[in-house]
Amino acid sequence: MKILVTSALPYANGDIHLGHLAGAYLPADIYVRYQRLKRRDVVYICGTDEHGVPVTISAEKQKKTPREIVDQYYASIKKSFEDFGMTFDNFSRTSLPIHHRLAQDFFLKINEKGFIYPREVEQFYCTRCKRFLPDRYITGTCPKCNNEGARGDQCESCGHWLEPSELIQPRCLVCGETPKKTRTKHWYFRLSQFQDKLSSWIADKKEWKETVLTFVQGWLREGLQDRPITRDLSWGVPVPLDDAEDKVLYVWFDAPIGYISSTIEWAQRQGKPDLWRDYWLSKDTKLVHFIGKDNIVFHALIWPAMLMAYGDYVLPSEIPANQFLNLEGGKFSTSKDYAIWLPDYLKEFKADSLRYALTRNAPEARDTDFTWRDFQAWHNNELADILGNFVNRTLTFIKKYYNSSVPSTSFFAERDNYILDLLKKAPHAVGDRLERFEFKGGLQELMKIAQEANRYFDHEEPWSTRKKDPAACARTMCICMKIVTALSVLTEPFLPFTAQRIKKMINAVPQSWDDIGRPELATAVGEPVILFEKITDEIIKAQVEKLKKESVDLEYFSRINLKTAKVLTAERVEGTANLIKCGIEVGDQRKQIVAGVGKDYAPEELVGKTIVIVDNLVPVKIRGVLSEGMLLAAVDKKGIVLITADRPASSGTAVQ
Ligand code: 2FM
Ligand code: ZN
Repeated sequence: MKILVTSALPYANGDIHLGHLAGAYLPADIYVRYQRLKRRDVVYICGTDEHGVPVTISAEKQKKTPREIVDQYYASIKKSFEDFGMTFDNFSRTSLPIHHRLAQDFFLKINEKGFIYPREVEQFYCTRCKRFLPDRYITGTCPKCNNEGARGDQCESCGHWLEPSELIQPRCLVCGETPKKTRTKHWYFRLSQFQDKLSSWIADKKEWKETVLTFVQGWLREGLQDRPITRDLSWGVPVPLDDAEDKVLYVWFDAPIGYISSTIEWAQRQGKPDLWRDYWLSKDTKLVHFIGKDNIVFHALIWPAMLMAYGDYVLPSEIPANQFLNLEGGKFSTSKDYAIWLPDYLKEFKADSLRYALTRNAPEARDTDFTWRDFQAWHNNELADILGNFVNRTLTFIKKYYNSSVPSTSFFAERDNYILDLLKKAPHAVGDRLERFEFKGGLQELMKIAQEANRYFDHEEPWSTRKKDPAACARTMCICMKIVTALSVLTEPFLPFTAQRIKKMINAVPQSWDDIGRPELATAVGEPVILFEKITDEIIKAQVEKLKKESVDLEYFSRINLKTAKVLTAERVEGTANLIKCGIEVGDQRKQIVAGVGKDYAPEELVGKTIVIVDNLVPVKIRGVLSEGMLLAAVDKKGIVLITADRPASSGTAVQ
C-alpha cells in the first residue's frame, strides 16, 4: 500500500503561527516520520496556496503586488517549516505553471462531463473602487451571531459559512462604501448532483473522527447546493473559456488540485515523471488529508465531489481534522496580530520544545489553549526533568564509572521484567496510537517509558550497587542503555532534533521502528550533553508581555468610530469623586457619557469643549448611570489631559 499524506496548503499571505502548526502540520509530520520509520511507502505533499482574495487583500494592505506578497511568504513559510523540522517530500506553490495547467485541465474535463454550468447572478459591485467585490472584499454584520466584522465568505466569530448577500449592512472592505448589486456571470459546480454519492461514501467512514462526521452529516442533511467556482479577480488561475475574461478559478477550486500538482512536481524532481500516477491513480493508495476544522467542508465534501466528477483519482481515505488551538484564552487573530509567529518563536526557543507542547496539548477532540506557563512547565518538568534527565544520568554514569564503555550482562533479574516488558511493547504502544491519529496519546506512551525508566534507575540505585554488587550495577546500566537506545528512535517522530542528538551521543541506533524492541547496543558512548536547558520565569514573562502589546491593522481600526463631540452639560455623578456625567452633541444626535475625569477637571471646565469620543461603543451603565460612548484622554503621572479639537470643528465629524 502507498500512503499519500497532505497538509492544508497555507495561504502565502502571512507567516505560520502556532494555531496552524497544531492543526494541519505538526501531526502530519509526526505521522509521516513514523510511517517512514516503519519503512512504508509514504509521500508527504504540501506547498503554498498563492491565489485568492486572502492574497490580494494582503497585497493591497501592504501596498505590494500579489506576486511580491506570495514570493515573500513562500520563502519565509518554507524556511520556518524547515527550521521547525517539517519533512515534506515536496513543498510547491500554486502559482507555478504546472499547477495552472493542471487546474485548468481539471476544470475543462469536468466541464466537458457536464458538471459545470454558467449562471447570471447578482453580485456586489463597489462604485467607488469600480470593481466587483469577491467574498472577502465585503464585510458586514453576521446574520447568525450579529458580529459586526463578518467576512463575505465566513463569520470568524461564529464560524458560519455565508454568501456575501446574507450580510447585514454590507460594506466594501477597501473603501467602506455600501456596494451595489450588479449582474455578472459565474460558473457553478453541480455539487448538488453528488449528494447521494457522497452520502454513501461517507457512510463507510465509521472510523473517522466524530467531529468531522458530525460536521459533514450536518451539511448533507441540509442538502448540498451548487457552488460558484469562478471569481472576478485578476490574480489566480484564469478560467480557460473564451467568454470568461477577467475571471479566475475560485481559490478553493484550484487549491486542492495543488495536492496533485505538487505530487507531479515531486515525481519530476525524482527524475521519474510518471511516479505520481502510482499514488493518485491507484486504488491501493491511502490518501490522508491533515487539516484544521475550518477546512472540513472543502476536504470532506467539495473536493471528493470534484474528484468523483473527474473520475480517475483516488478519494481521501482519512481526514483527521483538528479543532482549534487558542492562545492564552483568546483566539489567534492575524488582523489583530494576536499570535505567536513561528519565525519569532524560533528566534528564541528550540523547535522540539514547541513540538512537545503542541502535541501534549493537541486540539484533537476539542479546542485547547496554549499558554506560555504550560509551555515552560512542560519543557522544564517533563522534557528536562524526565526525558533529558534519564538520558543524561545514564550516559554520565557510564562515562564516569565505566569509562564510557557500555557494560554488558549475561542475565536479567526477575525485577527487571517490568521495565523490559514495557520496553518491548513500546513500539506498539506508541505506534498504535499514531496509526489512529492519536498523537497526544502516542506522546503519553513515550513519556511513560522515560518516567518508568527514571523510577527504575532510582529503585536500582546503581550509585550504591556499583561497589556492593557490580554485576547488578552493570545489569541496571545495560538496561538503561537499552532504553536510551530505544528512545533515540521512539522520540524521532515527535522530537526529531532531540532524537538526533541522542543518536549522536550513543553512536549506534536501531535502523527502523520494528528494530526498536531489540536494540543493538553500542559498545561505547560519546560525550553526554544536556538535552534541555531550563527556561526561566523572566524569559516567559517577556513573552507574555509581548502578547499583550497587540497591534491592529487598518481594517480593524476602521471599525472603531471616533468622532468629535461638543460637551453641552456636565455634572458630577452623585457619591463619586471621579465621575462626571456629560450631555454631548454628536452631529444631530444627543448622547450621554460618563467620564472618569473628575479629579482633574471641574464639570464647568468641560462645558463648551469639543472633545473626541468613541461613538460606537456598546452602551454600559457606570454606577447606575448610562454611558453611550467614551471620551479620549491622555493619562500621565500628573493626571488626565483631555483630547480636544485644536481649532473649532463641528461635532459629529469623523476623526481619522
Ligand atoms: O485555509 C487555508 O489556509 C487554505 N489555504 C487551505 C487550503 S487547503 C488545500 F485545499 F489546498
Ligand atoms: Zn470600495
